[in-house]
Amino acid sequence: MKSHMDWEYEAQNKLPRDVYDFIAGGSGDEVTLSCNRDALSKLKIVNRVLQNIDDVEIHSKKLDLFCKNKDFSSPLIIAPTAHHQMVHPSGELATSKAALSCKIPYIQSTMSDISIAALRQAGCPPDMLQLYIFKDRSITQELICAAKEAGVTSIVLTVDVPEMGIRYRDRKNNFSVDRFLFGTNRYKDSTQMSSSSTSHEADFANKTIESKLSWKDIDWLRNQSKLPIILKGVLHKEDALQAKNNGIDGLYLSNHGGRQLDGSISAALVIEEIRKVIGYDFPLIVDGGFSSGSDIVKAIALGADGVAIGRPLLWALAVNGQQGVVTLLNQYLTELMLTMKLCGCKNLEEIRAKNILKWT
Ligand code: FNR
Repeated sequence: MKSHMDWEYEAQNKLPRDVYDFIAGGSGDEVTLSCNRDALSKLKIVNRVLQNIDDVEIHSKKLDLFCKNKDFSSPLIIAPTAHHQMVHPSGELATSKAALSCKIPYIQSTMSDISIAALRQAGCPPDMLQLYIFKDRSITQELICAAKEAGVTSIVLTVDVPEMGIRYRDRKNNFSVDRFLFGTNRYKDSTQMSSSSTSHEADFANKTIESKLSWKDIDWLRNQSKLPIILKGVLHKEDALQAKNNGIDGLYLSNHGGRQLDGSISAALVIEEIRKVIGYDFPLIVDGGFSSGSDIVKAIALGADGVAIGRPLLWALAVNGQQGVVTLLNQYLTELMLTMKLCGCKNLEEIRAKNILKWT
């Protein structure tokens, strides 16, 4: 049985140095990256005793709209991360199969090594598609069509990348994803990006992703598809409110795992104030540094409905493919349920109601 640190340690030993750095690293001096973990460790749980708890229920009802398994919308979600084949040859196929078997919602990244159509053909389409709006809108339109055909429940629109953050580790390593792509395989089925000139991830993203997005583009996106839209990358309460007023269906608080604006706040630190402005019925997902089931309990106590994990998933995939991901997901769920029992919380609503958090 591996601890969360073991997964990363084993993955680090397996992966080429520059691939490990690409995943583990953040932007700038990686201040935000380390703040994500710090924020969670400064939050402590004040557990309860003698609460007569036998079984716990972890259905996150407000996320039902976004999950294929309506009977089981877990608060644990797989965050969209690029290029899973970089860490394991079975890539996103393994991730998606593992997610399906554990009934954990999976958000597939636009920057995936396998198309959404191929995942559908394999019988394991993702629950949600993460979307970037491309300068060439026809690519975005193609992705939306493929998502609809695959029966995804919603679009997760990432809005914190008008330009890529400066990632010094990748620059020092001269990192490029090209060597994993075997020619044009990556963009086969044309649901992913259509160019093969991927010299460096950052240059490529900067050339292709639309940098001048505004609320008008959200209207454009809504006209392309009637699928619910979740905005990913929101941290300011004014943006949260504007999103709600503009008909967005859910919010995903995130600083992109410390990979975009170095110095930006941890999503965990804004959950409470954003929850207050958007009200208690509005779906709210959060990510950034959540590395155990008790971290999930902290987010829920602050007002989140779902918690997404990025890097931990990639470490497990690197270590042991699909089985690694299954083991990791079950580990989070086991820890979540144990923490709830130790806090006397029968369900997620009780986590909120029981006032079990303290900042230290
Ligand atoms: C990401 N993330 C990301 N986000 C997104 O919207 N689209 C993407 O393609 C990617 N790709 C990506 C690649 C890698 C290697 C990492 C580490 C992250 C950000 C991701 O969705 C999420 O916000 C963070 O990873 C959450 O932080 P933790 O769980 O990694 O600490």
